[in-house]
Amino acid sequence: MKLKQNQIDFYSENGYLVVENLFTHQEIDQLIQEMKGFDTLKHLPQVICETSGEIRSIFAPHKSFNVFDELYRQKRLISPAQQLLGEDVYLYQFKLNNKKAFIGEWWEWHQDFPYWHLDDGIQKPNMLSAMILFQDTTAAQGPLIFLPGSHKVGLVDFEPKQNSSEEGDYMNALGADLKYTVKKELIRDLANSKPLVLAEGSKGTCVFFHPNIFHASSSNMSPFDRNTAIITYNCTSNLPALKTGQRPEYLCARNFEPIHAIQ
Ligand code: SIN
Ligand code: MN
Repeated sequence: MKLKQNQIDFYSENGYLVVENLFTHQEIDQLIQEMKGFDTLKHLPQVICETSGEIRSIFAPHKSFNVFDELYRQKRLISPAQQLLGEDVYLYQFKLNNKKAFIGEWWEWHQDFPYWHLDDGIQKPNMLSAMILFQDTTAAQGPLIFLPGSHKVGLVDFEPKQNSSEEGDYMNALGADLKYTVKKELIRDLANSKPLVLAEGSKGTCVFFHPNIFHASSSNMSPFDRNTAIITYNCTSNLPALKTGQRPEYLCARNFEPIHAIQ
């Protein structure tokens, strides 16, 4: 799948791009089926649970199940990533984010790049994430909310957090209480000139988004689950500065080989 010039222009202007029907319902059903395998793997450090005990995120699912290993290599993801980034890419991070019907929790307003820059030593935001929707997703399920064009602002000041914990504590990048969040005034200012956009779409839709775009999501009060895969690709010229005590491989992959795309 090759993106058209108008899609590339839309991404560079807005910091996100929605591509509908990138995956079939049958393909998504298979992913949902495999995901159930993690119910018995909740003890793994890369499986993050909410206070309710439900799984919130599963990192590096490709290490456990073949179907996810085949997912991030798909040409229909790699070609657009290469087009939007202008280079070969490797897999930087892969997670499944779950929001269980009625109880799935929110994500505060944040940019992704601060975690990758400050915690992993990546120099440039030459990265992107591809989010695949596992259900028909509407406003009621707590889809991602974007502030279009906010990726152009670059890295911004963080909201000071009362409970901000030690530097190097990577767990507060994973729960509902995030370490680096965007200041509320900034969001208010930008949202006054550009309306917020919800990442709604039918099952199998893929949403590409920039690491600096401001984004958040609400709790899932609906009776329907909201599951997504979020696959982050990085340019092979933009590697992390490896140092001791760095975040685990399931958050910052160490295999920098360009991905060999499969059909
Ligand atoms: C994220 O910001 O990485 C994910 C938020 C969500 O799953 O709603
Ligand atoms: Mn994020």
